[in-house]
Amino acid sequence: MNNLAQVGHTLAILGASGHGKVVAEAALAAGWEAVEFYDRAWPGKQQVGRWAIIGDDVALLSALDRLDGVVVAIGNNQIRLNLLKQLHQAGVRVVSILHPMACISGSAIVGGGTVALAGAIVNADAVIGSGAILNTACSVDHDCILGEAVHISPGAHLAGDVQVGDRSWIGIGASVRQGVLIGSSVIVGAGAAVVSDIADGLTVVGVPARPMVAGYT
Ligand SMILES: CC(C)(COP(=O)(O)OP(=O)(O)OC[C@H]1O[C@@H](n2cnc3c(N)ncnc32)[C@H](O)[C@@H]1OP(=O)(O)O)[C@@H](O)C(=O)NCCC(=O)NCCS
Repeated sequence: MNNLAQVGHTLAILGASGHGKVVAEAALAAGWEAVEFYDRAWPGKQQVGRWAIIGDDVALLSALDRLDGVVVAIGNNQIRLNLLKQLHQAGVRVVSILHPMACISGSAIVGGGTVALAGAIVNADAVIGSGAILNTACSVDHDCILGEAVHISPGAHLAGDVQVGDRSWIGIGASVRQGVLIGSSVIVGAGAAVVSDIADGLTVVGVPARPMVAGYT
């Protein structure tokens, strides 16, 4: 389902981190009027950038009546996915945050709870699963299919027809050749060039990308 136009007054951001700050600024740029941060590290952690942290995830659930939406801003794909599922089960309105300078094709499908940051490009007929992070200046080209809770890091590029399985993380500045199949829970290291299929659970690095094993290099 596309969630391309979800804006309201007050957005709760679960996850008070550097990524959370970037999501906050994207949300405000997209038209949200106010953001509130929640994090399990509260009350030990009280502040993130210029924002006070209001409470933990329990406090978030008790504040729902005055919130217009919730986004999970946690980089760890498995943790983000688990939280998204819990929020859905609790009936919370989970929204996507799409920076106005993200460029999402009208023919692409973007799952709920996705964050697309400035300069992210999603081209024709791509399908993005729920809970994705499309980080700064990444690109996902035509007909790509991404599973749930995938993270495409800043400046990473997927050529056309690439498939990426659930919870996989494509590292900063990595490139993936057209038609490549990347499994679930894969990590593609920073700067890697992926030119052939990658099986589930592997971490790959280098140009061309190879599985990382003890004693790599
Ligand atoms: C691949 C990665 C997950 C490995 O992390 P790690 O398990 O902590 O690995 P280490 O840093 O201990 O490095 C282990 C070895 O692999 C090498 N290595 C690590 N990442 C590498 C990469 N991306 N490309 C090539 N070699 C790499 C290291 O130089 C080191 O080699 P050495 O044993 O000869 O010294 C990580 O380096 C990486 O690239 N993460 C992506 C970061 C990113 O995209 N951040 C953006 C966040 S928005």
